[in-house]
Amino acid sequence: MSLHISAKNGEIAEKVLLPGDPLRAKFIAETYLENVSCYTNIRGMLGFTGEYKGQRVSVQGTGMGMPSFSIYANELINDYNCKKLIRVGTCGSISEKVNLKDVILVNGTHTDSSIYKTRFKDINFSAVPSFDLLYKAYNISKQSSLSAKVGTVLVTDLFYMDSAKEINELMKSYGTLAIEMESAELYALGAKFGVDVLTILTVSDDLVKNKAVAPKDRQTTFTQMMEIALDTIID
Ligand code: HPA
Repeated sequence: MSLHISAKNGEIAEKVLLPGDPLRAKFIAETYLENVSCYTNIRGMLGFTGEYKGQRVSVQGTGMGMPSFSIYANELINDYNCKKLIRVGTCGSISEKVNLKDVILVNGTHTDSSIYKTRFKDINFSAVPSFDLLYKAYNISKQSSLSAKVGTVLVTDLFYMDSAKEINELMKSYGTLAIEMESAELYALGAKFGVDVLTILTVSDDLVKNKAVAPKDRQTTFTQMMEIALDTIID
């Protein structure tokens, strides 16, 4: 039992997928895992453990934004000994290089977050994923013709940002593909605790053409990303 997760020792696998939405955690567990059990429902932030291709895998909801994400990731790593963590999430595209429903393997993050200012002071920390996980996910996506894109994202504290247009243009001009709200914290914690981390995203909102995946299609659209993530996280 940790402060925000009610699992007993040993109930969470070393390999964990991290969707923001707890109901997506339930969907992943029910769709892909066998012998599933739910190990926590504190604050409705569901977590499940089961087996994928014979290996134990957990799926834990994290909520939205880095403060919420950070609580769950810290406890998974420090209280439950998790060693491989892959975020599976959604993002808004800011570049014509990616389209609605595309999958992105995040090879680095930029952030406006005060979390980084608090933690790193004047240092501009370079947040990168585990090379092994990125390389494996890339190969899996290539072999199966899922064709994920590889690139950077802006991780922001504000979903509703006053200066979004200006910021999106600036970040796009530096090659950034999309915006989301969690991965900079995952990559910082991976570096801090020496665990393997990666983010795989699906474009749910096209901020260039002002289009979005319909709410009813969101869960099914994301199966490509979940399959890459599951095949990447197992040995
Ligand atoms: N902005 C930030 N995070 C997001 C978005 C967005 O437009 N879409 C999905 N996650």
